[in-house]
Formats: sequence, C-alpha cells, structure tokens
Amino acid sequence: MNRSKLSLAVISVMALPPVFAQAAEPEVTAPQVVQALEGTFGIHQGERRNHTKGTCAAGEFVGTAEAAKYSRSALFSGKAVPVIARFSLAGGNPKAPDIARSARGMALQFKLPQGQLHQMAMLNTPMFGAASPKTFLDLTQAQRPDPATGKPDPEKLKAFKAAHPDNQAQAQYLASHNPPDSYAHSAFFGIHTFKFIGAHDKVTLVRWRFVPQGGEKPLSDDALKTAGADFLEKALIDSTAKKPARWDMLVAIGQPGDPQDDPTKSWPVERPEFKAGVLTITSALPQKGAACEPINFDPMIMADGIAPTDDPVLRFRSQAYAVSFGKRLSGQ
Ligand code: HEM
Repeated sequence: MNRSKLSLAVISVMALPPVFAQAAEPEVTAPQVVQALEGTFGIHQGERRNHTKGTCAAGEFVGTAEAAKYSRSALFSGKAVPVIARFSLAGGNPKAPDIARSARGMALQFKLPQGQLHQMAMLNTPMFGAASPKTFLDLTQAQRPDPATGKPDPEKLKAFKAAHPDNQAQAQYLASHNPPDSYAHSAFFGIHTFKFIGAHDKVTLVRWRFVPQGGEKPLSDDALKTAGADFLEKALIDSTAKKPARWDMLVAIGQPGDPQDDPTKSWPVERPEFKAGVLTITSALPQKGAACEPINFDPMIMADGIAPTDDPVLRFRSQAYAVSFGKRLSGQ
C-alpha cells in the first residue's frame, strides 16, 4: 500500500465510531477462551468446558410484592415458579476435589408462564475475578499445568497477578473463606449489576444474592483435611430428601456512581436491600441424564422485567457458554 492510501485507511478506521472498531477486532474471542479452558483442564467429551463437576436439582421460587414494585418480571408475581437448578465447582476438571478453594456455582432456570424462561448463573463469591474477558483468558492460561510438575508454573501465576490487579479481590476472598460443607449452606451472588424494569419502564439498578435460610456453614480447617473429594453431591441429595433447602433472594439498590459494568468491584455494604423472594430446592440428583445436564444456563436469557447492563463480562459470557454448549451437545 502506498503512503497516501495507508494514511487514508488509518483515517477511515479512526473515524469509525468505537462500537464498530470494537466489533471489527475483538480483543478476545469466545472460541479462544474455550480453547484455553480445554488446554488447561483437558477435553472431557460431552461435558461443560467450565463448571464441569456439578449436580442437578429442582424446586420453585416465590417472589415478593416488594420486588414487584421495582420489576414487572413474572418472577415476582407471587405465584410459585418451577425451577431447574445446577450446583457446580468452577473450572473444567470433572474430578475437582470438593475442598478446592475455588468458586462454587448455582445456576437457575425459572419456567415462567407462556413458555418464558429466566436464567441466573451465580457464584459463592461477592465479586468476580476478571473485569474483562482478557483477564479470564490470561488466568486460564496461567493455571495450565506445567508438563514437568503437573502443577501450574508459580512464575506464570506471579506474572498473571502482577499484570491483572482486577483478579485480586476475588482471589483474596477465596483464600480467606473456607469452602462450604454443602451447597445448601452457601450464599450465591449474581455479581453483575442488572436492571429491574418496572411500570412505565422505570429502571432500577440492582445486584442480588441468595442467602441460605439455615445460615452459611464453611468447612472448618480440620474438616478441610478430612472431608474428602466428593461430599457436596451426596450432602445435597441426602439433605433435600429429608427437608427442602431454602434461600432468600436479597436485592440491593444501586446509587449514582456505583460500579455498573465492573463485576470485580463491590457496592458499599450500606446499600438498601429488600427481600425479593424465596428459592426452595426440594430434590437433587447426579447430573448424568438429569434435567439440568443439557441446559445452557446463559445469564443473558432474561424474561421481560429484568435486563442486562453493559458489563462486558456479562455480555461475553453468553458467547463463551454458546461455544461450550455447542461442543458438548455435538459430543465433542
Ligand atoms: C469472562 C468471564 C466468564 C467466562 C469466559 C465463563 C465461561 C463459562 C463457560 C464456558 C461455562 C460452561 C457453559 C456450558 O457449557 O453450559 C461456564 C459455566 C458457568 N459459569 Fe461462567 N464464565 C465467566 C464468568 C462467570 C461469572 C461472572 C459467573 C457468576 C456471576 C459465572 C458462573 C458460572 C456458572 C454458575 C456456571 C455453571 C452453569 C451450569 O451449571 O451450567 N461465570 N462459564
């Protein structure tokens, strides 16, 4: 290209509105991230590429009149909404030990009237460990086992931490909180900011969490040594066979200036909160062949009354889940 054509090309790229410039050349793609997960955790045919180890469950959700003041979602009609749930361990290792200091997940699919679906996929940490897909990609690559030791290379992990301060808050949270003794004894956080859409399209910025009615019960330091690798599934199946597990859905209302599009940043604790409903889980089953197994718990699947913000991580999740879903459905 001669000099005048080159400068013309530069000018026309610069003149593009930022949205087109981004769309033309995304920094990180979903197939790249899924490939990185496969590189670190291996390919487990027909399985999720992340949160691979998990347990199916079922129950219902009943919303409150207080929530209906802020959101017109059928979730908050006050009638029982059937729920399919999946509890999981973060990471693509189907044999991840249940004592691992990693995040636990709770994914919910609400079956609303007229075939509408609403989905949530939450973690048991109040914040996420990546403000952008690039941090997630770099973390996944830094966790790849070194063929010589079978463990991640400490130097690579150190370099990752130095380059990505946005990972720090979640890493510190995981290091300082023992994992739960049962999924039923863990709180789960929506983490992203969402919009509740009410009457006359009034928008309220919210963040939610699900808090177990029986209280949170982390493993003690002693129990961590003796609990073994596979107790979470049995604990949930056994406890729900005796009595349902219940969580209160608590919703915090944002104030101007609260972070909207950064899932690594918490909101001040004094934000006003209201109870938006109760989730009741009545049964649980191993995931193979059970109802939750084939579901793609894409958190961008939302029914009228709740909408996403521009959080780039929330938006990217939809693409990454689709790639993982496509692979596992086709038996890869
Ligand atoms: C860049 C950020 C993220 C990426 C690339 C990512 C990627 C993935 C992928 C590929 C899956 C497997 C999907 C499937 O095969 O169905 C998954 C599952 C999951 N993720 Fe994420 N994720 C991200 C952020 C998050 C965040 C912020 C949360 C919580 C707020 C979260 C919670 C979960 C949960 C709970 C599951 C399991 C869902 C199920 O049980 O099917 N993820 N993630």
